[in-house]
Amino acid sequence: MLNNKLNITSEIELSKEEERITKLKALELFDKKIIDQFEVGTFNGLSEIHKYLFDDIYDFAGKVRNVNLAKGNFRFASVLYLDDVLDSINKMPQTNFDEIIDKYIEMNIAHPFREGNGRSTRIWLDLILRKELSKVIDWSKVNKEDYLLAMERSPVRSIEIKKLLNSALTDDVNNREIYMRGIDVSYQYEGYYTYSISDLDK
Ligand SMILES: Nc1ncnc2c1ncn2[C@@H]1O[C@H](COP(=O)(O)OP(=O)(O)OP(=O)(O)O)[C@@H](O)[C@H]1O
Ligand SMILES: [Mg+2]
Repeated sequence: MLNNKLNITSEIELSKEEERITKLKALELFDKKIIDQFEVGTFNGLSEIHKYLFDDIYDFAGKVRNVNLAKGNFRFASVLYLDDVLDSINKMPQTNFDEIIDKYIEMNIAHPFREGNGRSTRIWLDLILRKELSKVIDWSKVNKEDYLLAMERSPVRSIEIKKLLNSALTDDVNNREIYMRGIDVSYQYEGYYTYSISDLDK
């Protein structure tokens, strides 16, 4: 398991505390409008999100990883090329839905952090959609299995994830309930089910 600033040695306890602490941070990002100050559509902006969420837990919050990562049969970008990959993602256009999802797919392939890529990159994606298209994804309309399968296929075939996310777009971009539900669902994709953000918000 990962070294952590909480000095937790049980994997189960760490995952619960990580969920609790970072969900509260995610809510702060929204309520204090901190999220509106981050750069939109760059690694720098993603790093700011990641650092804000994970800084109390991991030394590597906001920092580019220095180990290689794989999931299933897929190897994410090699640490040897990661800086170059992130530079080219920074330059990718984001003027329409297709371009934005292509950029999201590339950022997922980069997987820049040691842990917490899925959750932080979905927040990053919503910031791009909100700025460029005045829309966000209502993640509660995106089924977990469909999503994970579409992401697994996205490096070779992007149409499935594009269709899935397109059908879940909403104009209700400042809706706190949709944001909170979205965070809970995003955490469920990664196996975190212990706390709901609305219970933590009491
Ligand atoms: N086989 C795959 N190929 C490519 N991308 C994948 C694959 N499986 C999952 N993903 C994408 O990676 C995300 C999370 O992957 P992973 O668990 O490695 O990240 P993480 O850093 O642990 O993030 P988190 O802690 O938020 O889960 C998923 O939400 C999905 O978007
Ligand atoms: Mg994880």
